[in-house]
Amino acid sequence: MDTILVTGATGGIGRAVCERLSANGTRLVLAARDRQRLETLALTLPAPSDGSHSAIPVDMASETSVADFGARLAASGVMLDGAVLMPPQPHSDNDPMPDPEIWRTLFQTSFIGPLSVLKSAIAQMEPTPEAGRRCKIVIISGMSSVQVLSHYATSNVIRTAWVGEAKTLAFALGGRGIHVNTLSLGGTLSPWYRDAIGKRAANAGVSFEERLASETDNIPLKKYGTPSEVATVVEGLLSPLSDHMTGLNILHDGGFTRAY
Ligand SMILES: NC(=O)c1ccc[n+]([C@@H]2O[C@H](COP(=O)([O-])OP(=O)(O)OC[C@H]3O[C@@H](n4cnc5c(N)ncnc54)[C@H](OP(=O)(O)O)[C@@H]3O)[C@@H](O)[C@H]2O)c1
Repeated sequence: MDTILVTGATGGIGRAVCERLSANGTRLVLAARDRQRLETLALTLPAPSDGSHSAIPVDMASETSVADFGARLAASGVMLDGAVLMPPQPHSDNDPMPDPEIWRTLFQTSFIGPLSVLKSAIAQMEPTPEAGRRCKIVIISGMSSVQVLSHYATSNVIRTAWVGEAKTLAFALGGRGIHVNTLSLGGTLSPWYRDAIGKRAANAGVSFEERLASETDNIPLKKYGTPSEVATVVEGLLSPLSDHMTGLNILHDGGFTRAY
């Protein structure tokens, strides 16, 4: 039975990933800020075939909280087979050169904090590739990691940083049997994303379906992704499907990215 850390576990995509993995008997270590929501999720997911799911709260924006998470994970003695890292969405304005303090906050919350959490998770991995036991890390990035989006100024930088970090880690950890791949998402219909479409529809005086159709008209598959589609791909990247794959940045964007 595998044990997997999932950060952002209570979010739209995180919850779908947790539901998918737990349905197959995987034991989960759940992380996000809100302890109550984490514990409720741990209780409502199908129980693992051995033991129980656990929840460790963490606020990626706080160095103290991230250090506390690492200490609690180590103290739990859990051995991880993999991790699904979802750095908090780097919310920002469209300013390509914001104040230093904005950069510091963004990097702490969406890069430095999550990277420290990942370091703690890697310390709990003991792969034995010669015996067929490989550990898999999936980092959820974003489609602007490979394509500049003019209205996502700072996000372009943070997401590209993750692709560079994942590639570097793939080289550093590959010999130990630890794989690191990045999944770059296009628009994905999490509850908050549906709400945002609903607001844009209301502002434009059109229905939700009309707005969705116009927003996805420039996507080859003419649709946004769903959290359960993301969960299916994450499950594959954690499975033997990726036993000879590392350092990849995989696009999950309906074909939106216009590059080879
Ligand atoms: N949905 C999309 O269209 C889309 C597109 C591209 C990329 N992505 C990426 O996919 C991932 C998940 O997206 P989603 O749609 O599932 O988002 P979501 O529904 O807003 O979920 C966000 C999750 O992250 C946790 N979180 C937020 N701030 C945190 C912090 N400071 N420290 C620790 N945990 C924090 C939230 O729980 P708490 O509030 O309790 O902490 C929640 O579990 C993100 O990395 C996002 O950038 C999403």
